[in-house]
Amino acid sequence: MSKPDGIYWDKRSEVMSRDELEALQVRRLKETIGQATKSEFYSKLFQEHGINPDSINDISDIRKLPFTTKDDLRKEFPYGMLCVPKEETVRLHTSSGTTGQATVIFHTRKDLDQWAELIARCMYMVGVRKEDVFQNMTGYGLFTGGLGFHYGAEKLGALTIPAGAGNSKRQIQLMQQFGTTVLHIIPSYALRLMNILSDQGIDPRKDLDLRIAFLGAEPYTEEIRQRVENYYGIDAFNSYGLSEMNGPGVAFECPEKKGLHIWEDCYVVEIVNPDTLEPVEIGEVGELVMTTLTREAMPLIRYRTKDLTRFLPGECSCGRVHRRIDWIQGRSDDMIIIKGVNIFPMQVEQVLMGMPEVGNNYVIILEKENEIDQIRVQVEVHESIFQEDMRYLNRLREKIVRELKSEILVTPRVDLVESRSLPQSDGKAVRLIDRR
Ligand code: COA
Ligand code: AMP
Ligand code: ZN
Repeated sequence: MSKPDGIYWDKRSEVMSRDELEALQVRRLKETIGQATKSEFYSKLFQEHGINPDSINDISDIRKLPFTTKDDLRKEFPYGMLCVPKEETVRLHTSSGTTGQATVIFHTRKDLDQWAELIARCMYMVGVRKEDVFQNMTGYGLFTGGLGFHYGAEKLGALTIPAGAGNSKRQIQLMQQFGTTVLHIIPSYALRLMNILSDQGIDPRKDLDLRIAFLGAEPYTEEIRQRVENYYGIDAFNSYGLSEMNGPGVAFECPEKKGLHIWEDCYVVEIVNPDTLEPVEIGEVGELVMTTLTREAMPLIRYRTKDLTRFLPGECSCGRVHRRIDWIQGRSDDMIIIKGVNIFPMQVEQVLMGMPEVGNNYVIILEKENEIDQIRVQVEVHESIFQEDMRYLNRLREKIVRELKSEILVTPRVDLVESRSLPQSDGKAVRLIDRR
């Protein structure tokens, strides 16, 4: 198999035998344990569990290793899990959240290169080529969807438009001006954009050159995929990833569209019962647990993603060796995703309870408006505050919006309500109402 000029193409990593793949995983897992031991966190943890690279002889030996959780990442923030000298790192991505909630992942140059390779592999797999024009419509900056896809697309050789999130009219203009053929877009935004295109009298099937979209970063359904495909006249592929495992590029649909191939040459993948932490049967839903196999700056061992999915039984007719996971079916924690941004209800509570004007009760309501999920927060304020004039109340409301936005990154709707007007519950407070 020859490698066409300037185009990423490494089919050997995709079609090796299962035995070869597992031998590669064992070798890389041993190296990863050696590398992870260079961090304060894992050196202590491995010592406690008597783990060293020789603990691994077979890939099933991964079960001897302890799990890593988001709480570990939070506790070790910022440098406790770093495995290389700081000067070897070239990029970081952090989650939202002030101290106590934030997590960070560091990358060396080699890590970034490997990540870009994976994205290029995903894009190539579904037919993107250097002749394509790729418009990346997810957030740049600290979100991994922006820079992650960006460098993968450039590696592939496609003309890459770093459009970022939002600014819909400009997005449409870019598609028209440069003949965009491939999109990376969050599913709810793809739906929202349909309304805007219709308002402008643009029919994407006739007026645009689109042929492929990558939809990911939030849960959605096969029905939404089909609506997007039909409206835009494109093929849409599910793209799954998480910042802890780099970002996008972790698992991706192939042209068969029967589940997502999860790249087992770069990750050891397990699905466990979230209560017992024992592996579930093939086909049974559980929590996805992943171990990085190629990362230098910050390897993660048996990371509990909290995403619920299952291994699809059997082999894919495309011939790739990497197993397939089903579409993500939910979370085993209380994280919510709004406009492609992860939010923990605790972040809202921390902001509100830090404000003296705010009373003791609040409710978070998730609702849909123009196809986009919105977050509304109803906040009880102290009795005396309602004696103040409207201008004061508006200023307070705006202040709460600002403070919440700086913590959760999306703009919430905020309603100020009188003390003791929100429903009280006898047992555990109901703080989250989902009206979507
Ligand atoms: N992706 C891209 N654009 C989005 C979006 C999404 N998920 N959700 C909303 N938007 C658009 C809106 O349509 C609006 O555009 P327009 O009015 O110019 O047409 C604009 O972004 C601002 O919307 P608003 O609802 O006021 O935003 P916000 O302040 O609540 O949130 C965003 C700001 C949208 C920029 C922020 O939520 C974001 O960056 N989301 C993308 C996150 C992401 O890329 N995640 C991927 C991780 S891999
Ligand atoms: P982040 O670390 O900000 O990139 O967010 C990662 C999280 O987004 C994952 O753990 C999932 O919960 C969610 N996510 C990403 N891609 C998908 C997808 N294709 N389907 C469902 N959820 C997704
Ligand atoms: Zn396949």
